[in-house]
This record gives sequence, structure tokens and C-alpha cells, in this order.
Amino acid sequence: MLFVPLVLLTALTGGALAQSTTTLPFNPTVASAYACQSSCQSFLADGVRADDATFSPSPVRNEAFYQTSKKFHKSRPGDLLKLEPIRNLSSYSFTNEIPAGTTLYAIQYVSLGLNDTKVPATGFIALPFALADSASDSCPGSKSRFPLVSLSHGTSGFNPNCAPSHSPNFYDYFSWTPLLLSGFAVVATDYAGLGSNYTRHPYIAAQINSNDVYFAARAAQAAFPDILTERWGAVGHSQGGGSVYALTENELVKNDTNFIGSVAIAPVGRIHDQLRLSGIGPSLNSGPPPAQAALGYLTLHTWALETAFPAVNVTSFLSDTFARRYALAQKLNLCLSGASSLTGDLTMKELFAPNGGEEKWFSQLKKLQDAYGAGLGRKAFSPLLIVQSEGDMAVPWKSAELAYNTSCAVGNEVHMTLLPLLDHSATVGATSGVWVPWLKERILQSDTVSKSGSKGCSFERIRAIDQSAAYAPLDSQG
Ligand SMILES: *[C@@H]1O[C@H](CO)[C@@H](O)[C@H](O)[C@H]1NC(C)=O
Ligand SMILES: *[C@@H]1O[C@H](CO)[C@@H](O)[C@H](O)[C@H]1NC(C)=O
Ligand SMILES: *[C@@H]1O[C@H](CO)[C@@H](O)[C@H](O)[C@H]1NC(C)=O
Ligand SMILES: *[C@@H]1O[C@H](CO)[C@@H](O)[C@H](O)[C@H]1NC(C)=O
Ligand SMILES: *[C@@H]1O[C@H](CO)[C@@H](O)[C@H](O)[C@H]1NC(C)=O
Ligand SMILES: *[C@@H]1O[C@H](CO)[C@@H](O)[C@H](O)[C@H]1NC(C)=O
Repeated sequence: MLFVPLVLLTALTGGALAQSTTTLPFNPTVASAYACQSSCQSFLADGVRADDATFSPSPVRNEAFYQTSKKFHKSRPGDLLKLEPIRNLSSYSFTNEIPAGTTLYAIQYVSLGLNDTKVPATGFIALPFALADSASDSCPGSKSRFPLVSLSHGTSGFNPNCAPSHSPNFYDYFSWTPLLLSGFAVVATDYAGLGSNYTRHPYIAAQINSNDVYFAARAAQAAFPDILTERWGAVGHSQGGGSVYALTENELVKNDTNFIGSVAIAPVGRIHDQLRLSGIGPSLNSGPPPAQAALGYLTLHTWALETAFPAVNVTSFLSDTFARRYALAQKLNLCLSGASSLTGDLTMKELFAPNGGEEKWFSQLKKLQDAYGAGLGRKAFSPLLIVQSEGDMAVPWKSAELAYNTSCAVGNEVHMTLLPLLDHSATVGATSGVWVPWLKERILQSDTVSKSGSKGCSFERIRAIDQSAAYAPLDSQG
């Protein structure tokens, strides 16, 4: 979910640039020292306020739960390290955004990070209030189970505080609540490096993020073996769309006959190609300027490159201004809204170092895509449904179609549903009537999951019933 500060709109039309008289949620002297002057500070103020409303402002390092379990050393990937009920929900300010009855646990478990290094990861498990037949003790063994889905969230940020398990509404944007209200159990990874600070978060390294989604399902089944189905599926959006896409191509699911496949909503699997299709990248300067919403992610992409390629000095490819603001993003522990606000008053040209910085930065991004991306023509082991909107201003629909074409051409089972109008985050909840039943049918059917026989590809365009009457909020409206 992306909140592009509204002030952007007024600033571009020449209004409301004046510093507000309310206290800034950061030290303006510090911001100035990091090349963030008055217009930058206006964007940043809104971004930080949005971050603070989305993630609990108290740092995760103050909470014992996020510290690495002593059991970690002797553990194996998929092991459950910590399981704690989240009891004090009513102290959260946004409780009314969580369906009453939701039964929540925080988990810490073991995953695999870059270079197959064992890492701790955190997340949460959400269960519906009750099983339909939990009262029938008469016939032991006949109890039903909650169908299990592993959720892979969209971009939330890069530092440990930007963890969905540390968010007052558990980072719901009609992403996990449609599942919960349909009777699913949801396990939602934070991703390694968010929540747990053991490792840097390998942002948009889709294949690495997919390990976290896989082992979250293993850990959830270890936590609740009697009430979760063995069959499970995955759904993800944006960064998480790329990660569940990569999950279908991950060796980990090759022999997992219980994994029924993934739903990838507005997937970020081909980050380099996606930015170029957004009009961002070397020698694309003739077209219309790229959407500011897409530019905002470049702060996070820089983090992704530094994490994946520690030997490369990625900040040396940035302009002095953007390099300093990138340092500010880390100093202030910004999450998505704050970090993406830092490009609000800059053009493409102002982001990169002169003499080839842009080309070098983009060649690293291509390396990241090739090494860790999804939808690039690898063989998949499980079916995939891609859900995408033509109105998406962060992930252009052509990049999803490109991935679809590529995966289909190598014989993978892949289905794509394309809708009009909806922006990036709005697509998730608006299409739950498409993807919730897709998951439910496959998890609850009784025949064995086919690992080999491809059912081919299908591409479907869905029309809106009445676009003029549809509520279609833009991501920039918060
Ligand atoms: C992670 O947080 C703990 C406190 O919870 C702190 O002691 C440790 O230094 C932090 N590690 C890193 C790499 O920041
Ligand atoms: C209870 O909720 C508050 C947020 O209001 C949070 O700061 C605190 O860490 C929570 N305590 C526990 C034990 O989860
Ligand atoms: C992974 O291993 C390669 C080769 O040994 C090394 O160059 C790279 O820095 C490692 N990556 C990380 C994130 O540690
Ligand atoms: C999957 O099964 C094959 C054949 O039994 C085996 O060779 C392979 O190592 C297994 N792969 C994984 C990732 O477990
Ligand atoms: C990376 O490059 C920048 C700018 O050229 C420089 O200031 C910085 O010291 C370099 N960092 C490292 C670790 O070499
Ligand atoms: C995908 O394939 C279709 C059919 O061949 C083609 O019309 C479309 O342009 C392709 N899309 C992309 C993004 O390459």
C-alpha cells in the first residue's frame, strides 16, 4: 500500500508549500543537513505521519518478542521459534478495522535468506473465531479444519519497524481480512528483516521473499497441526505478488503435494522491466514523465540493490541530493510512505549521478531481476493466477502481461485476469471475489494436487459493471 502525500498535488499546482505551523514529526535541522529543504520537508511530514499511523511508532527493538529466540541456533528452516497470543488488541487505536472475533498470534520462525543463510523471521497468524463444527465431540476425527493460506504482503518499507505484525491493523488493506471472513486461517510473514532485525530485508528479491512465505506455512502448521488443512495456497500483492509468483518456481514446492498454487496480484517479479514500462530508466526521456507514485519506490529499490549486492557501492550511482536523502530515510527509520515521499520534489534527472549513474544503477537492477526475480521463464511446479488492473499506477499491467507471456511460453500453468480502472492497492480487495474462491476450491478439493500435468494458460478480461458508479480510490489518496 502506498500513500503519496496529498500535498504533492497542491505543491505541483503552486499552492500550500508554506511550512505548516504544526510541529514537524522530525527535526527540520537534521532534515536540512540531509539535503531535504522546505518542499521536501512538506512531503516528508505527511509521509512520516502516514507511517506512524500505519506502524506502531514504538520501535520493534523495544519488544522482547522480536528478539531472536535462543532456540534459533539449533533450529531448521520451518521450525517455530515463538508463538504468542496477541491479547491487547483493544489498546490499538484502529481496532475497528479488524473483524471482531479475529484470533491473533505473533510468530517467530526460521527461514532461508540470501545465499541460503538460515534466518529468523516474524509474522502473525489470524484465525476465525470458531470452527463450524467445533462443538461436535461425538465423532472424533471428523472435525473440519481452517483452509490455510500464506499471505505475502505488498511493500511496507525496509527497516524492522515496518512489520505488518507491528501494525495496528496488521497492515490490512482488504488483503487478509477477505480471507479471514471467508473462513480461512491466514499466516502472514513480515519477511526476514522486517520485525526481526537479524538480517537486512532483501526487498523485492522475490525468490528470497518466497522462502519466507513457504516456511511461514510450515511454521503455522507446526503451531496448529489439528485445525489447519495440510493443503495450502499463497496469495500476495505487489512485492508479495512477485514473491508468491517466485514460490511456484521455488524448488521448495517441487515435492510439496500439499501446495495448490499462488495468486499473484499486481506482481513485482520483473522489477527492471516494470520500471522501464513505467517510463523510468535510461534513454526513456522522450515519453511522458513517469508517475510520481512509481518514482517514490526508487528509495526502496536502492536499499534492495545494496542488500542483494553488498560489494557494489550503489549510492555512488545516485546524485548527491538523493544519496543524502537515502541516508536520511535510514536515519529516520522511514517506512513506505516516508521513504517514498523523499522523491516528491525531484525529477528523474535529479536522482542520479551525472556521467552514467542512471545506467549503472539500472544495470544493477537488471542483475537483481535476473538473479532473484519471477516470471522470467523458469519452470513452475504449481499453478498460478495473476490478477492485475489496467489502472495500476505503480505496476504497469504490461509488465504482468509480459511475465504471463513468458511463463506460459515455457509450458507453465498460468491464468491471468485483467480488470480496468483500479489502482494498485484498490485491486486487492476489489478482486477478492475472484481470488478467494480460486484458493478455496483448490485447497478444499479432495483429489491429489497435480505437480506435473499443466492445464495450460488462460487470459481473461473482466469488465466493470459500471465504472462511473464504482469506488476506485487512488493509492495517492491514502
Ligand atoms: C537488533 O535489536 C537488538 C535489540 O532487540 C539489538 O541488541 C541488536 O543490536 C540489533 N541488531 C542489529 C543488527 O541492529
Ligand atoms: C500492546 O499494545 C501496544 C500498542 O498499543 C504495544 O505497544 C504493546 O507492545 C502491546 N503489548 C503486548 C504485550 O503485545
Ligand atoms: C553471497 O555470496 C556471494 C559469493 O560468495 C558473495 O559475493 C555475496 O556478497 C553474498 N551475498 C550476501 C548478501 O552476503
Ligand atoms: C524431490 O524429490 C526428488 C525425487 O524423489 C529428489 O531427488 C529431490 O531431492 C527432492 N527435492 C527436494 C527439494 O526435496
Ligand atoms: C560510495 O560512494 C560514495 C560516493 O562516491 C562515497 O562517498 C562513499 O565513501 C563510498 N562508500 C564506500 C563504502 O566506498
Ligand atoms: C503477450 O502476448 C500477446 C499475444 O502474443 C501479445 O499480443 C502481447 O503484446 C504480449 N505482451 C507483452 C507485454 O509482450
